[in-house]
Amino acid sequence: MNLELSLIYLVSTLTFVFGLKFLGHPETAKKGNLISGAGMGLAILGTLLFHGIDKVPTMNYILIGSALLIGTILGWIMAMKVAMTKMPELVSLFNGFGGGSALLIGIVEFGNNVGVEDTKKASSAILATILSAIVIGSITFTGSLVAWAKLNGSMKDLRLPKYNLINNVLFITLVAFSAYIVMMNTDSMMLIYIILIASLIYGYLFVAPIGGADMPVVISLLNSLTGIAAAITGVLYGNMVMIVGGILVGSAGFILTFVMCTAMNRSLSNVIFGAFSASSDAFAGTATKVGGTIKKTTASDAAVMMNYASKVVIVPGYGLAVAQAQHAIHELEEQLTKKGVDVCYAIHPVAGRMPGHMNVLLAESNVDYGKLIEMDHINPQFANTDVVLIVGANDVVNPAANNDPSSPIYGMPILDVENAKYIIVNKRSMNAGYAGIENELFFNQKTSMLFGDAKEALTKLVAELKNI
Ligand code: TAP
Repeated sequence: MNLELSLIYLVSTLTFVFGLKFLGHPETAKKGNLISGAGMGLAILGTLLFHGIDKVPTMNYILIGSALLIGTILGWIMAMKVAMTKMPELVSLFNGFGGGSALLIGIVEFGNNVGVEDTKKASSAILATILSAIVIGSITFTGSLVAWAKLNGSMKDLRLPKYNLINNVLFITLVAFSAYIVMMNTDSMMLIYIILIASLIYGYLFVAPIGGADMPVVISLLNSLTGIAAAITGVLYGNMVMIVGGILVGSAGFILTFVMCTAMNRSLSNVIFGAFSASSDAFAGTATKVGGTIKKTTASDAAVMMNYASKVVIVPGYGLAVAQAQHAIHELEEQLTKKGVDVCYAIHPVAGRMPGHMNVLLAESNVDYGKLIEMDHINPQFANTDVVLIVGANDVVNPAANNDPSSPIYGMPILDVENAKYIIVNKRSMNAGYAGIENELFFNQKTSMLFGDAKEALTKLVAELKNI
C-alpha cells in the first residue's frame, strides 16, 4: 500500500474512533455521526484514487461509480424519509446489506483464492477467513431481513416444534462442517454453496421465532455480527479501515447487547441459544402472588398533589410511547416548572421496547436533555422526592426485582420509586407489563392509581394544573 493511502486510512480510522466517542452522548451524537461519515467518505475516495489506480480496468470504475451513485441516492432517500419510530427497521435493513456484502465478498474471494481452478489452493487461514465471511455474512443477511419484515409487520413469529433444538443442532453442524472443510483444504465450490445455503437457512430460523419485544436485542446482536463480518473481509484484503471499522461496530454492538441483557435480567447465553420469546415466557418462572386494595385517584387530586410538591420525578415507560403522549408530558413538566416545582425524568435503560426509547421519544417533544436522569443517578434522589408520577411504566418500577427471589425479574435493576413520599401511577388497567407479572407497587399505601390512556390523563392533568 502506498504512503498516501496509508495516511488516508489512518485519518479515517481516527475519525471512526472519535466519532464513536461523540456518539456516546445525545448532545454530541450528530457531530459524531458526521465525523465518522466523513471519514468513511475519505476512505472510499482514497481507495478509488490510490489503490492501484493504474491496474484497474476502466469498466470496473464504471461499475464501482454506478454502485456508489445508486447506493448513495437510495441511502439518502431512505434516511431522509424514515420516521423515528421506524428507525429499528432501517437499522435492521442496513445490517442485512452489510451481511450480504460480506457473503458476496467471501464467494468472490473463494473463486479468486481457491475454487474454480484446481491449481489455486489457498492456505487454511485464508480458507477459514473466507468461510467465516460467508457463514457470518449469510446469517446476518437473512436474520436481518427477517427482523426487518417482522418489525414492519409483514411477517409473523414462526415457531417450529422444538425450534431451540433444531436451531442449536443446525448451528453446531454448520460450525463443524466449516471446520472440516478448512481441514480438508477444499477447492470445491459445491461445498461452499452448501455452507452458504445452510447459513442462510440458519439466519432465517434464528430470528423467525423471536417475538416483537425481544427484537431490539436481536438487532443489536445482528449489528454486532455485521461488524465482525466487515472486519473479517478486511482481514481478507489486509485493509486496516475495514478491520478497525468492523471491530468498532462489532464490539459496540456486542456491548449494547450485553447491556440490554443485563438490564432485562437475561444472560447472554440465554439470548444466543434461542430462549427469546414472543412475550412473557421469556421470563419463565412464577412470582409470589401479590394483592390487597388499590387506591384510585382523579386528575384534579393528582394535579393538586403535584402542584404543592417541591420535587416531582416523572417515570416514563412503554405506555407513554404507545399513547404517543410525549408532547403532553412535556407540557405537564413545563406547567409544573412554571409553578416552581423541581421536575425531572427518571430513565431506566430498558424502559420501552428499544435502546434509548425514552430518550428518543422525549427528545421528539424537545424535553431538555439535562432533565433526563439515568437510573443510577436518580435512585438516591427518590428519598427526597415528594411525588413520583409513573406514566405507562410497569416492570421497570416493580419492587419484586429487589425483594422477591421467586420473581422472574428478580435481580433486574429497577427505579426505586418506593422511596418517594407519594406515588401516582398512570396506566389503563391492572394489566401486567412486558414480563407478564403483577406489580406490588400498585397496592402500596403510598400509591394512587390514575387510570386512563396516558395522553388523555396527562392532558387532563395539565388542564387541572392550569386551573389551580
Ligand atoms: P412495561 O413493563 O411493558 O409496562 C408498560 C405498561 O404501560 C403496561 O403495564 C400497560 O398497562 C401500560 N400502557 C400501555 N398502553 C398504555 C397507554 N396507552 N396509556 C397508559 N398506559 C399504557 O413497560 P416498561 O416499564 O417500560 O418496561 C419495559 C419492559 O420491556 C421491560 O420488561 C423490559 O425488559 C422490556 N424490554 C425492553 C427493551 C428495551 S431495549 N427497552 C427491549 C425488550 C424488552 P395497561 O395495559 O394497564 O395500560
